Amino acid sequence: MRRAYAPYSRFSVGAAVRADDGRIYAGCNVENAAYPLGNCAEAAAIAAMVMGGADKITAVAVAGEGEALVMPCGGCRQRIREFAAPDVPIYVAGTDGRRAMFTLQELLPKAFGPEDSS
Ligand code: THU
Repeated sequence: MRRAYAPYSRFSVGAAVRADDGRIYAGCNVENAAYPLGNCAEAAAIAAMVMGGADKITAVAVAGEGEALVMPCGGCRQRIREFAAPDVPIYVAGTDGRRAMFTLQELLPKAFGPEDSS
């Protein structure tokens, strides 16, 4: 979250995925002057995981500032689904630490996934 590049929204987000290789891969949001080109923190963490050679997510954490829970956006729920089973926990944190936990299934019910697409 501290590394986020968010000069337009001023909303810094950090994400981390734990992979089945036991490692934790982190990412942050990276915005762009052409607004739609900005990337979410979750996308960066997933890209780091893929670059690290892993392809199964066993847990996700997302952290942001402010009072409200920083929930993964719809697109990122689908990005997580590509590499995670429905029971994978998604932890939502603030600067005060962990605040809530949801399963992927709760956040993206009846999902379309890789097994539907091959
Ligand atoms: N953002 C994330 O990085 N992850 C989320 O789960 C929610 C939103 C970013 C995108 C954008 O840079 C900023 O937060 C404001 O929407």
